[in-house]
Amino acid sequence: QIVNLADYRPTDFVLERVDLTFDLHPTETKVEARLIFHRREGTDPRAPLVLDGDELVLAGLLLDQSELPAGQYDVTPDGLTVRDLPESTPFELTITTVINPEANTQLMGLYRTGGIYCTQCEAEGFRRITYFPDRPDVLAPYTVNIIADKDANPLLLSNGNFLGGAGYGEGKHFAAWFDPHPKPSYLFALVAGDLGVVEDTFATMSGREVALKIYVEHGKEPRAAYAMDALKRSMKWDEERFGREYDLDIFMIVAVSDFNMGAMENKGLNVFNDKYVLADPETATDADYANIEAIIAHEYFHNWTGNRITCRDWFQLCLKEGLTVYRDHEFSADERSRPVKRIAEVRHLKSEQFPEDSGPLAHPVRPTTYREINNFYTTTVYEKGSEVTRMIATLLGRDLFKKGMDLYFDRHDGQAVTIEDFVKCFEDASGRDLAQFSLWYHQAGTPLVTASGAYDADSKTFTLSLEQMIPATPGQTTKKPMHIPLRMALLAEDGAAITPASISGAELTDDVLHLTEQAQEVVFHGIPSRPVLSLNRSFSTPINLQFNQSAGDLALIAHYETDHFARWQALIDLGLPNLLQAVRDVRQGIAVTCDSAFVDALLAAANDDSLEPAFRAQALALPSEADIARELGGDTDPDAIHAARRAILKRIAETGKDIFAALYDSMQTSGPFSPDAASAGRRALRNAALSYLSQMDGTPTRAKAAYDAANNMTDLSAALTILAHQFPETADTTAALDHFRARFSENALVIDKWFAIQAGIPGPDALGRIQRLMEAPSFKRSNPNRMRSLLGTFAFANPTGFGRADGAGYNFLADEILDIDQRNPQLAARILTSMRSWRLLEPVRAGHARSALVRIERAGGLSADVRDIVDRILKE
Ligand code: ARG
Ligand code: ZN
Repeated sequence: QIVNLADYRPTDFVLERVDLTFDLHPTETKVEARLIFHRREGTDPRAPLVLDGDELVLAGLLLDQSELPAGQYDVTPDGLTVRDLPESTPFELTITTVINPEANTQLMGLYRTGGIYCTQCEAEGFRRITYFPDRPDVLAPYTVNIIADKDANPLLLSNGNFLGGAGYGEGKHFAAWFDPHPKPSYLFALVAGDLGVVEDTFATMSGREVALKIYVEHGKEPRAAYAMDALKRSMKWDEERFGREYDLDIFMIVAVSDFNMGAMENKGLNVFNDKYVLADPETATDADYANIEAIIAHEYFHNWTGNRITCRDWFQLCLKEGLTVYRDHEFSADERSRPVKRIAEVRHLKSEQFPEDSGPLAHPVRPTTYREINNFYTTTVYEKGSEVTRMIATLLGRDLFKKGMDLYFDRHDGQAVTIEDFVKCFEDASGRDLAQFSLWYHQAGTPLVTASGAYDADSKTFTLSLEQMIPATPGQTTKKPMHIPLRMALLAEDGAAITPASISGAELTDDVLHLTEQAQEVVFHGIPSRPVLSLNRSFSTPINLQFNQSAGDLALIAHYETDHFARWQALIDLGLPNLLQAVRDVRQGIAVTCDSAFVDALLAAANDDSLEPAFRAQALALPSEADIARELGGDTDPDAIHAARRAILKRIAETGKDIFAALYDSMQTSGPFSPDAASAGRRALRNAALSYLSQMDGTPTRAKAAYDAANNMTDLSAALTILAHQFPETADTTAALDHFRARFSENALVIDKWFAIQAGIPGPDALGRIQRLMEAPSFKRSNPNRMRSLLGTFAFANPTGFGRADGAGYNFLADEILDIDQRNPQLAARILTSMRSWRLLEPVRAGHARSALVRIERAGGLSADVRDIVDRILKE
């Protein structure tokens, strides 16, 4: 069941049209698919038609309206093969299947949850609805007829434009939809049920009016207002920035509460996890608002990057995902603060993608082989894919990048294409050769760039030695040097920018230095005094950079750089050695110390009113325990890391107590709640101050008072997190947790926060707490959001609890994975990836983790999803 890119070939049959009729029933839905095919020119006239299926039951099969003799086809739940088909004329195949939406706990294909029928077809869910050439390079226009019980399902939705509807016999009705834009099956969607709606309209740049509808559970309509606002802003932005106009009369979003992922870009009918639609000040945090804005934009942007131009095969997933993440990042940067957005992106990239890229699950942005495509919806394909797109924009500059994008839209509209096609557009638009650059798509592993600089006062030259090393990754032992675009600046002692008279040894375009060789010596001429080098500004390339700069140089960058991302990076680089040393000290039983240059620089940034509050909050957020483990690079002792980080936090808290107290007062926001980025930044800085103040106090009193005074979910959940994580099991914390649960018992998304906050409480008692929480009446195993809140937070974000020294956390997770896998393999496989870095643990824990993994590996009846992940994680 291994699929290889090299084996790609087009289908033997061309699909001309798809006509689907659904007779909806909770347990016995009848699907009639009428498919018109013709044999592709130049293919074997005897080749059979082979269609994909997954757990299907065939109930009827007609060829041009006549029953097919049994000898002319073979059918299993997984496929249908039809022989002796016309050599050149088109023919119609009518396939009837019967499926059970209620029993579909995988949440792939057509399923029914909370009384709503909905679909998820990417990547290979359509084959759970009918036999079909279920691959992204088979494009056709679809007509969809939906018949259903009228009372239970007043709403009948599918892709495209509404054709009409009417009554249909006793108590039933039907609706017909037509999508004129040829699309692959993974973009098919159907929704039926009884939902409330929020409506609006959007006038496109050519003056067409588009009806906008967001469907949510009755009573939740007011909580969809922000999503609607984000949608309209996204539509406008895509017109202005990329010249992309919407192409149907209606755009719909449906929010459902049981969904395996964030959201899905089905043509004209996006389906969302309701977590990324519903928000109001009482129940959503600033982070929730920012996520909603980004994901609404992401799915909308797919209309062009994904739907109008799609992927030839699933190896090309980054063609739509990397590009669309880049587009949503740019949208958020334009709507909010660009440097703060960049800092958040890089934090996410480093904490999620870097570990993936350096562990057993590492794979290229454009892989060449897979066993289970669902396991390739990864941060490498999405986030590193976005970084690669960003680098193309960096290499070409804004205008040529725009020209390349225009060419891409022009040249490939309506097609299913490859990464090579995409890159070619930028080569053709710019005249550049991007062959070496393309290695970013093909070579896995985070490059390590080593830099060292030397100033020579006599010759007034600054010499920079650069070297790149790309680590070996599974299946790729030797690598070629890559094209690494490093944004940079040279700063004088007073912070002023130094412009070199000339440079040799590398190309410099604007502020981008091009590293293209394995090793390069770059000489900057005409440098009047020793410069301080700011390298990889704005994180222009996703690398690990080893550059031993003095604390003085880093402090200078943190103070003067005009690139605020670089300031933040300098603060991190100042802090890291202290954190790493603290871990060593804790392990040796020595008292933890901390360099005052770091503490001073951090507090100076926190106290600098010329900086945005959101930036200052980012500066105060130290690297996470997982980040520290990654920087240590092995022999991870989670308890030592936790203790070391706590000690440094306490030191900062004590030194900065007056600053934090002043910030806590001055950052108070007044007036009604607004989710805008500036107000969110003030809340973030204020809550960061509160966290430090609580560290210093060592008592929950202040956080409890903040909890009681909070009038929005951002402040409320921040206070509750401080209480729970710093002061677990105190009376104040218990009271706040009970209050929170009682107040929000009717709101599943808020109860998810209640579970997640408790799942993150550090220490060896975490496991017992998790097990108790699983007994709570509100714990629902069938709900992916709930499982991710509790088990996901525990496994991904609680290193001391999950990584308890006796291995009980790993063992517990193994049992849970095996259980979840029976119902929802995708969810099980995703949570299992939390164990990907097990080899970095200290030997005793690594042994426990390994036994837990081996137990999964040896269990019978594993899904393809879990089998693939566990095999790769364990592979030597
Ligand atoms: N295309 C969707 C998005 O990124 C995600 C689909 C994920 N599918 C999956 N099988 N994991 O917008
Ligand atoms: Zn996407």
